[in-house]
Amino acid sequence: MNENHSDDQIGRARVQDTPALEAYYKELEKLGAGALWTVANDIEPWEPRSSSVPMLWKYDDLRDLVVKSSELVTPEQAGRRVVYLVNDKRKDVSAAVGWLYTGIQVTRPGESTSAHRHKASALRFIMEGEGGYTVVNGNKITFEVNDFVITPNSAWHEHGVDVNGKTCIWQDGLDIPLVNALEANDYAVYDGKQSIDVPVNNSPINYGTAGIIPADKIWDEPFSPLFKFSWSKVYPALIEASKSNEINPVDGVFMHYCNPMTGGHVMQTMGASIQLLPAGFSGKAHKHTGSFVYQCAKGKGYSIINGQRYDWAARDIFCVPSWAWHEHHNASDNEEACLFSFNDLPVMEKLGLYQEKDFVENNGHQEVQ
Ligand code: FE2
Ligand code: FE2
Repeated sequence: MNENHSDDQIGRARVQDTPALEAYYKELEKLGAGALWTVANDIEPWEPRSSSVPMLWKYDDLRDLVVKSSELVTPEQAGRRVVYLVNDKRKDVSAAVGWLYTGIQVTRPGESTSAHRHKASALRFIMEGEGGYTVVNGNKITFEVNDFVITPNSAWHEHGVDVNGKTCIWQDGLDIPLVNALEANDYAVYDGKQSIDVPVNNSPINYGTAGIIPADKIWDEPFSPLFKFSWSKVYPALIEASKSNEINPVDGVFMHYCNPMTGGHVMQTMGASIQLLPAGFSGKAHKHTGSFVYQCAKGKGYSIINGQRYDWAARDIFCVPSWAWHEHHNASDNEEACLFSFNDLPVMEKLGLYQEKDFVENNGHQEVQ
């Protein structure tokens, strides 16, 4: 393989403009056509290219404004009170990074949203509050801080907080930009509230305990039957794994949330992961295709993304664009740090577009600019 990425070589477009060619291009343009060599080098980059930039959203800066939305508009007016996080270079498609959307949603005690569904898939990572719940296809699921909850493509869903609870704030993650780019999104409003068809937390009770699944139920949906992944189970598992496993030099203890029926991603278009960076962990850099949105679930640290340092602490959100060099560091010498993330890996993998590269210079660490 030729690693020379100069466009001035045979095999790349390198035509010099002439008056005759310019006239020819104009003739083609009039007919809704063009000469490939005028755009080929741009539309066929040597390596994956992202139009997104790395970004960090500090929770301390945003929290008051998120809560303020619950004073300014009602769920009936707004549908959902969400402050969405938009990438400086992806405002045209409301994306946080790549083709992923994310936002921070607030619901006060006694409030509930109306039920709806859409072709975009959704997930949530709970940031604060008590007494929150979601209803997904007639399954009511209660959630607590750092729980991870899914709302698959086309599932009816609504959220609320018990009247005796505390204001709940969570991060939403959706593939709205992707599904819109594919021109396949839709949206429907439910007539009233969903009827609760099964006992509360039936999904995690059946599919989220001790690695057992019901023998007498057939599950043939293309997403996980486990709709909630409880921090009360995930965190102890991470701690045990950190004692038992060899620590990955790039990602520490890195685990995917999975569909218990298949071991695969939780939904068809978005995956999610949780990772533990042991105290003092200094991760090596790598890059890969796929867009990632992170939320720090615990501890503090920093990530170096394309040579820029981003310091994060619990509840901060940041993104890593496709093919950006990135490395994660725990800033504490005595406490572990945990990062939740969601991504478009199911799409990248299914379409055969996933690739990765290790950073080999400087003992695997980037120079900070
Ligand atoms: Fe929704
Ligand atoms: Fe990575």
